[in-house]
Amino acid sequence: MRAPRILVTGGAGFIGSHTCVALIAAGYLPVVLDTLVNSDARSLQRVACITGVEPVLVCGDVRDALALDRVFAAYDVSAVVHLAGLKAVGESVVDPVSYYDVNLAGTLALVQAMDRAGVRTLVFSSSATVYGDSQPSPIAESAPYAAVNPYGRTKAMVESLLADLARADARWGIACLRYFNPIGAHESGLLGERPHGPPNNLMPYITQVAAGQRECLVVHGADYDTIDGTGVRDYVHVMDVAEGHVAALRHAARRPGILMANLGTGRGASVLEVVSAFERAMRRPLALRIGPRRPGDAPAYWADARGAWQAFGWRARRDLDQMCADSWRWQAANPHGFDDPAPAHASGLPRFQDNTSTSINSKPGHSHA
Ligand code: WQD
Repeated sequence: MRAPRILVTGGAGFIGSHTCVALIAAGYLPVVLDTLVNSDARSLQRVACITGVEPVLVCGDVRDALALDRVFAAYDVSAVVHLAGLKAVGESVVDPVSYYDVNLAGTLALVQAMDRAGVRTLVFSSSATVYGDSQPSPIAESAPYAAVNPYGRTKAMVESLLADLARADARWGIACLRYFNPIGAHESGLLGERPHGPPNNLMPYITQVAAGQRECLVVHGADYDTIDGTGVRDYVHVMDVAEGHVAALRHAARRPGILMANLGTGRGASVLEVVSAFERAMRRPLALRIGPRRPGDAPAYWADARGAWQAFGWRARRDLDQMCADSWRWQAANPHGFDDPAPAHASGLPRFQDNTSTSINSKPGHSHA
């Protein structure tokens, strides 16, 4: 019995590569479509180090209808996990058109290609930013859309597109997963987050300060009405998020219709609480200073996490200490990210081969990696 092929758009990224690990562990074979604009193909070699299987990588753009048709024709895809997208809030304010193009038009192109191929099971990477910054916490899936930036609005619009599709055609099974704040790394220390350029998010900034690559963490405000004045968020381990995709995929494959689900722990943690947990992980203090509030930041929000448990039996299992310990292990073992060599035993592992052609990119300059 051949393992079902799952197309993972954006599968070479932080969430995507960890999701590939979880998919393989659950008996699926990922086929990754990624432009590598904000990811590294070597993440999939690290997936092979962990699982013994290196997913195929098709270098391509989810907006490219011909490339999509070729992927569906070349690989017997059973379902799609759609992670490809732009995700920097600040950048979306400066360049909204790119965010509507990639996030909204890209998803439209994808579902049209899926329909042409008769593939109608989809897990979509959505975001807690659809709730905006003024919902009372814990935030449940029933809260209204209130996005306050173009990034969040593209996610909300995609969810509406998918809801209309599921209402119009009962053959579709769709799950929209609203991530809170994914952090951490695979416990092996082989896979983790490595943003291109200066990190916007808290955890990659902390790890780079801890590694001596940045001088100190600037805490964006310590005068909020929270436990210690610093911002509170619902941090969730990236492997819990990855396993959430597998559970949602199984649900969407057997239940027509659409489901929105929060992926969070249901608990908030302040910036200083994260710092303390990270200091426990590395057994020494972290250099930091208090700075001004960051424009656009909400003081505090966290998930009502019951929905995913009730719908498809998923809940976060890893706590903040494990998130920090796993992040530190990844950073300490890979100070230069994927530029550092993978362990020797990684080479020569069986690559996932399919009896299909590999020249399926339509745009010149794209090569099959
Ligand atoms: C977390 C807390 C900051 C950096 C982002 C994006 C969105 C979403 C989740 C996908 C806040 C504080 C941060 C720093 C700091 N991802 N902070 N110093 O803003 O909650 O949401 O990630 O959908 O893309 O909105 O995450 O990690 O940027 O900030 O003090 O150098 O850490 O003020 O309180 P955020 P974040």
